[in-house]
Amino acid sequence: MKPGARLSSETFGLASAKFFHLLGAVDALRAEACCRLEQTGRAEKGQFLTPAPVAQFMASLLAEPNQTVSLLDAGAGVGSLFASAVAALCERADRPERIHVVAYEVEPLLADYAEEALRLCRLHCDGAGVAFSSEVRRTDFLRDAVCLLEADLLNPSPRIAEDPLRFNCAVQNPP
Ligand SMILES: C[S@@+](CC[C@H](N)C(=O)[O-])C[C@H]1O[C@@H](n2cnc3c(N)ncnc32)[C@H](O)[C@@H]1O
Repeated sequence: MKPGARLSSETFGLASAKFFHLLGAVDALRAEACCRLEQTGRAEKGQFLTPAPVAQFMASLLAEPNQTVSLLDAGAGVGSLFASAVAALCERADRPERIHVVAYEVEPLLADYAEEALRLCRLHCDGAGVAFSSEVRRTDFLRDAVCLLEADLLNPSPRIAEDPLRFNCAVQNPP
């Protein structure tokens, strides 16, 4: 993908207008957030957000979806990666019946944008007939993950569909 490349059906094959609408809307959130983020400290915090064409390419690599997709984004930024994944899953002929997204983000400004991206994902899924639920966790993913693993060792969880913190899919651009 060339720098500055734009979203187009030529790049990603046939896709619906709704698909590009969601990606474009979330990419606009990314551009706005980048202007509003404190520029000092961004490198230390790893706050470099993925442009839509790259996010969409990553989403195209997702495996065949389960009927229930429980998706983890462990450092979500504004939500470019989970939104691309949701859009790509909804494009498929064998789209899932249900998508649950858990987005971790420690930066409050970015977590606010991620909430908005999740709202757009919900609208998108409504239009595609896919049940959607989500949660932004404004905490350190690494700390949470250790707690979850410890809990899991002592008390194995029965089924993904019944546990909002078990995942069968992940998207990640780590800091
Ligand atoms: C490289 S950026 C990528 C953001 C987004 N995934 C994307 O691709 O646009 C990494 C993000 O993770 C967040 N982050 C860093 N450490 C984190 C942690 N321990 N828990 C949750 N979020 C974290 C940062 O604030 C930043 O927004």
